[in-house]
Amino acid sequence: MFTHTDLARLQSQSLKMQGFIRQQTFSPESEKNLRRFSSWEVAELILGLNPSTFRGRLAADPSLPQGRVEEDGRQRWYALEEINELRRKLRHKGKPLLPPRPAGKRAIRAAVANFKGGAGKSTVALHFAHAAALDGYRVLCVDFDPQATLSHSMGLSDVAEEYTVWGIMARDLIRETARMNAAGRGAETGTALPERKLPASVTGMGLDDLRVTDFIKPTSWPTIDLVPSCANAAFVEFASAQYRHLNPEWSFFAAVDRYLDHLPEDTYDIILFDCPPAIGYQSMNAVFAADVLYIPSGPGYWEYDSTTSFIGQLAEALEDLGRFRGAVPPGTEPEKHFADIRFLLTRFEPNNDLHRAMQQAFHKVFGPHVAEHPIEMTRAVEQSGRFLSSVYEIDYRNMTRETWRRARASFDRAYDEFRATLVAAWDQLED
Ligand SMILES: Nc1ncnc2c1ncn2[C@@H]1O[C@H](COP(=O)(O)OP(=O)(O)OP(=O)(O)O)[C@@H](O)[C@H]1O
Ligand SMILES: [Mg+2]
Repeated sequence: MFTHTDLARLQSQSLKMQGFIRQQTFSPESEKNLRRFSSWEVAELILGLNPSTFRGRLAADPSLPQGRVEEDGRQRWYALEEINELRRKLRHKGKPLLPPRPAGKRAIRAAVANFKGGAGKSTVALHFAHAAALDGYRVLCVDFDPQATLSHSMGLSDVAEEYTVWGIMARDLIRETARMNAAGRGAETGTALPERKLPASVTGMGLDDLRVTDFIKPTSWPTIDLVPSCANAAFVEFASAQYRHLNPEWSFFAAVDRYLDHLPEDTYDIILFDCPPAIGYQSMNAVFAADVLYIPSGPGYWEYDSTTSFIGQLAEALEDLGRFRGAVPPGTEPEKHFADIRFLLTRFEPNNDLHRAMQQAFHKVFGPHVAEHPIEMTRAVEQSGRFLSSVYEIDYRNMTRETWRRARASFDRAYDEFRATLVAAWDQLED
């Protein structure tokens, strides 16, 4: 017979193995480092310049970052900071190399969500974050999933649960309850709302004292930050149910939205949410805070079936929020408006007849809501995953160049379409 102590023992064995893998793949300090990018990658894949034009520009202007000549002695290798400096200083056909970003608007937010497990959410979120950072954007990721796949793949494995979405939600409950109590006291006419009291177990955690930026951790990418998650944050679903009981007027679904509204101005361009495979308090917060909803789905029938249930459930859950009308702070509207909703096929095999048939079905049913470029099934995801890396992060010399290029090209096409969707959505945001 086995009990919870056996499970705990098995887990601690596994954690030792995980620590060993991190040490082997990251660095002796288990810290993840971002590699440099070769001049070939920088010219052709990142800045979109002809490699010989690129070399010519560098030779003509020694004040430009010149990278570092590494082992093979033939190519120069550039750090992301240097690539971003090149972006600011170089022009191509008279145009700057900076990615489009409407002036005066807040960061655009996209949620990668589906309640189907293993649909490719974390893989898509990770690769889009990396593609966007290489594209010159400043990215903030929010990991809403206590499996913490995104946090772990970004090198954050030692996270206290206070600093996760759970902490943001509990802090919001404290603040919103105080706001409601103050509004109740301030009411001159009519019946004042009864004062709501929260137990010391909630108010005593010191969350109210945390600043917005306390929840944000740097990653190995200089232009990607992360609000991480951790396994202990799994109880957020139980805790949130209890919190709602403590203050039934609390608009729990808007906690992260309110949090993000208080980010320091002009710090990020794109905010990406990785969601858990469930519709719960965390994913509702992600979806409610998002301008754009990206729904990855595998190319099989059961995945289509599950995606159909997901959008039905989500529609019901969002419709339900209407009953919070009047309970939300001025300026918030419980009716959720998305600037765009897209389905993205993942693990797609172009030569697989069944996958192609499923793709046609998606297009037929969801029309323009289906992203044109699916993410292809590729061993490069598996291979780079072994190094706890994305296809963008892995040094292409670690695998067959053709495999790497094909995988990268697939993510690039999907990212380009994602970017176009975001840029169009950005224009719809209020200044
Ligand atoms: N394009 C791809 N090619 C090959 N393997 C892939 C691809 N996309 C995802 N995978 C693999 O499929 C598995 C599930 O992917 P991922 O973790 O991204 O899904 P998820 O939707 O985030 O899962 P969960 O619901 O558990 O959060 C992983 O092992 C991942 O490496
Ligand atoms: Mg995931």
